[in-house]
Amino acid sequence: MYGMGFDHSFGLWFITRWLKPDLMIESGAFKGHSTWVLRQAMPDTPILSITPRHPEKYLKKGPAYVDGNCTYFAGKDFVDFGSMDWERVLGKHGIQDPTRVLVFFDDHQNELKRLKQAVKAGFKHLVFEDNYDTGTGDHYSLRQICDQPYIRGGGHSCFRDSDEARIRYRRRKFWEKAVDTDELCGPGEAWWGVRGYMRDDFNHSNKAITYDEHFQNSRFVESVLDVYWEVPPVAGPSLTHQTRYEPARAPSPIVKDGRFSLFQRLGLTQFEPSVFNGYTQMVYVQFVDTCPIRLFDMSEWLRRQTRNLLGFACAGRILSTEAIQAIQALKRAYRSDPESLPTHALRRLIKSDLTAALKELLRQDQCTIAAVVFSVIQSEYGADLNAYAEMVVALARKGMAAEIDALVYRMEEEAPAGIVRGESRGLLRMVKALISAERKESTVRIYEMMKKSGMGSTWEVDEYLGRVLSKGLRRFGEGKLADEVDSELVRLYKAIFIKS
Ligand SMILES: C[S@@+](CC[C@H](N)C(=O)[O-])C[C@H]1O[C@@H](n2cnc3c(N)ncnc32)[C@H](O)[C@@H]1O
Repeated sequence: MYGMGFDHSFGLWFITRWLKPDLMIESGAFKGHSTWVLRQAMPDTPILSITPRHPEKYLKKGPAYVDGNCTYFAGKDFVDFGSMDWERVLGKHGIQDPTRVLVFFDDHQNELKRLKQAVKAGFKHLVFEDNYDTGTGDHYSLRQICDQPYIRGGGHSCFRDSDEARIRYRRRKFWEKAVDTDELCGPGEAWWGVRGYMRDDFNHSNKAITYDEHFQNSRFVESVLDVYWEVPPVAGPSLTHQTRYEPARAPSPIVKDGRFSLFQRLGLTQFEPSVFNGYTQMVYVQFVDTCPIRLFDMSEWLRRQTRNLLGFACAGRILSTEAIQAIQALKRAYRSDPESLPTHALRRLIKSDLTAALKELLRQDQCTIAAVVFSVIQSEYGADLNAYAEMVVALARKGMAAEIDALVYRMEEEAPAGIVRGESRGLLRMVKALISAERKESTVRIYEMMKKSGMGSTWEVDEYLGRVLSKGLRRFGEGKLADEVDSELVRLYKAIFIKS
């Protein structure tokens, strides 16, 4: 029976048993091998299988697998994953929470398209079987999308006299799927995707994309993913005799080259080498928690994405390589030990890179990591009120009220009273952020700091800021303090107030 080889079968089985989903969905079943693998991992869990031709059609001609606890969207019932009414279908299968579902794609469709469709439906755990390397394959893959100059081993040179070209030429002789520079690069030195093309649907459709589009695609993928994990091959090429995947561009095998006795003890010598010849970096991805948690409640997420994209396009904010590397190192460190994040790499960054890294982490709602970057900015350069305000806004978005209060407390403790002087824009943002986060005590504390720093004697409060503050204090039931602010405004601007 044809289908996935040994490496991916083991990987899918492993991930499925590890996640223990309430429902398994596969897109692309062919003769049912992957359905069988899912069934071995979870004997009692229902499966939905989407595939144009029902696997039972193959039974007449030879081996195929048809599962008894699987709903097939096949033949005349076929509906593409992207056109499925997921709310209805999941509801029909008693699934309330799409984050408890595992979706497996082996349908050779553009993975960016599939990723967007999965985000829209509220899924969280996905596996893509054919995660082709740059320059190979019949659809645009996550691995191709992530192939960017700031990623280790990523970004390529089309210069024919380069070290990369020489290495590629040599490796091409060993590994069938290795590509040399001639194969890698299309017109205009386009190396991304496949020679500058985004392929789809078994390469029945393809579209030339610019490097900028390719880069933006990676930014989108990075903004929605928390985990990208390429499943390693089971055993090294010298043990399996495989000749297809490029070991230099793949994770280390579980059973390393040279460990024949282990390979034998595991019973792997009984398999024909051909079953190991299909490794294409199968990948497990997990969406960040800030993606829509509730099914089809997309409005908040879309609003945020739109704002991010606009922010990115308007401000032209491109992160430097150093800032991107620092962010990635912190995210990796956070995953292995959230308690102790290293700051040495951050301390080497210049202030503008640190600030950009902070903004990016806040944009991704990575508040804990952002707090570390923030404290480095604070200790190295002294954080300004704009940075504090941004932290407050991000923490409020995550409902981290206690952290907001702690931040203001620390600001009061560490910063000289002068921090609130003369920074009217930052101060206004800070006050607005605290009021909209409903932080009464912190708002009062900021007001006290303003007074301590000479408001009313050595500097004058801006009229708009005063009005916002007074209104907020009054809303929090601090009428006396609000009256103080109002009388200052009357003194300075002859303001007229209608108290409500
Ligand atoms: C490589 S095979 C899948 C192999 C299978 N997962 C296994 O391990 O045995 C790809 C399958 O995707 C199916 N396919 C093609 N277009 C599809 C689509 N839009 N949605 C789902 N499946 C599709 C093909 O008919 C084919 O059966």
